[in-house]
Amino acid sequence: MQKNLVMGNWKLNGNKNEIHTFLNDLNLIIQGYDKCEVSVAFPVMYLDYASQILSELKSNIKLGAQNADTHNQGAYTGDISPKMLKELNVQLVIIGHSERREYHSESNELIAQKFKALQEIGLTPVLCIGESEEQNENGETLSILAKQLDAVINLNGINSMQKAVIAYEPIWAIGTGKAATANQAQEIHNAIRNHLASYSKEVAENVIIQYGGSVKPENAEEFFKMNDINGALVGGASLKAESFAGIVKS
Ligand code: G3P
Repeated sequence: MQKNLVMGNWKLNGNKNEIHTFLNDLNLIIQGYDKCEVSVAFPVMYLDYASQILSELKSNIKLGAQNADTHNQGAYTGDISPKMLKELNVQLVIIGHSERREYHSESNELIAQKFKALQEIGLTPVLCIGESEEQNENGETLSILAKQLDAVINLNGINSMQKAVIAYEPIWAIGTGKAATANQAQEIHNAIRNHLASYSKEVAENVIIQYGGSVKPENAEEFFKMNDINGALVGGASLKAESFAGIVKS
């Protein structure tokens, strides 16, 4: 089993000054701490800057990105190239976030292609899956998650999941302060693992499955006690070094 992963997602927030202060502070607070992997995904405009700071600090914090497209170069105006992300020392790339699925109409099939493009260049996809409140209330959660996973597995094969991270983010818990309970999340994580086990038991046992949605220092430990929860993808509470470090240390 790989180490748990706590990853921050800054979304469209921050500026150079804030990133500078954040990385210096976080690096200091979690120095020598090696119980889990730590990563932060900054806005793409600041990745080069963050990469330089991390290398000056000789930090173990892994640089993340929040999106990538499927082409590495060519006539694709405005796209984000996996190869160029790699050149900036990015290691993990969030794909399929519900905000991209909703505001950019990203389909399961497109996300599967992005997953492929990232792995081909040696980057680790952090594949977000999750259901809306309505789907949850209609009892559709597991079938929605299965569709989101199957699109990726159909294109890339089950073994591709060994070199990826899955982030279960119920949409109703994102940025709402209304996190799933640790028991609710555990139940879904276990169902995700069972679904993967129908393809490969080995992959199901080893894949990292993060929970995301209103995780904060106060509730992180409850989640991390659960057998099938291997870390967190954190939005709001990742913007300040102290609160994000609190989650890391949980
Ligand atoms: O990707 C992380 C995110 O969607 C969760 O956001 O603010 O609820 O922690 P937040």
